[in-house]
Amino acid sequence: MKQPIENFFSILSLSIVLSISGATSVLAADIAEIINSCADCHGKDGASTSQDAPIIGGFSAPYITDSMIAYKAKERPCPEAEYLSGDKKGKKTTMCDIAKELNEDEIKKIAADFAAKPFVRATNQTFDPALAEKGKAIHEDLCVKCHDKGGSLASDDSGILAGQWMSYIRQSLKEYSDGDRPMTKKMKKKYGKLKEGDTEALVHYFGSFK
Ligand code: HEC
Ligand code: HEC
Repeated sequence: MKQPIENFFSILSLSIVLSISGATSVLAADIAEIINSCADCHGKDGASTSQDAPIIGGFSAPYITDSMIAYKAKERPCPEAEYLSGDKKGKKTTMCDIAKELNEDEIKKIAADFAAKPFVRATNQTFDPALAEKGKAIHEDLCVKCHDKGGSLASDDSGILAGQWMSYIRQSLKEYSDGDRPMTKKMKKKYGKLKEGDTEALVHYFGSFK
């Protein structure tokens, strides 16, 4: 049997080892826990199966990072969001409150994780083929430069529009139209050319990607 004094030293050396290696390993566990909490709404790997939360898996890391920083600074509107599963199911919060709890280092790590996952398009969305056709023409005229291939490329750093939940696209376009969500000067220039009814056609176009 060990003497108490030896036990004391082994505990002491163990705690030194832990405090040296601890910084990164604890953080990794924290990050995993935060990512799990995102899944309560955004689904496993960000592949949201509910129209009440956008799909975020497969977005580029810079886009996710910038979005979270914008939420943190309340530069983006924060509609009320309800936990869709997990322990907090039914509780309400906002993306601004969620982002507020995270520092930039955590945000970057989380963004890298979601960026490594595939973007899984929404299924079972009903779209109007005629509207989608109209939306396609508008997109090719005004939007394709920064949202290539129907807005399906993460590398454009502009979110992913093709196959996103239509309700989320509809709401985002309304936020842009109402001037509630800031857009880059260049997007604004093109966006300003949209006519009445064009945004709904665009929603059906993005929803037509399966
Ligand atoms: C309670 C539900 C809920 C939780 C938890 C949640 N989100 Fe969200 N998230 C939403 C909703 C709803 C939206 C759409 C809100 C909006 O329009 O701004 C959203 C929007 C986003 C967007 C913007 C998507 C885009 O296309 O621009 C990102 C990025 C995001 N969330 C990341 C996260 C991350 C990372 C976490 C975990 C730290 C997280 N969310 C946790 C509900 C949630
Ligand atoms: C000059 C480049 C440019 C043009 C043109 C442009 N966009 Fe964007 N768009 C961006 C960038 C950059 C972002 C991401 C930054 C942000 O949050 O606004 C974005 C974001 C978006 C989003 C939000 C994505 C999300 O996940 O929340 C939607 C929706 C969108 N654009 C639709 C359009 C539509 C529709 C058009 C054409 C009428 C258009 N954009 C034209 C650059 C552009």
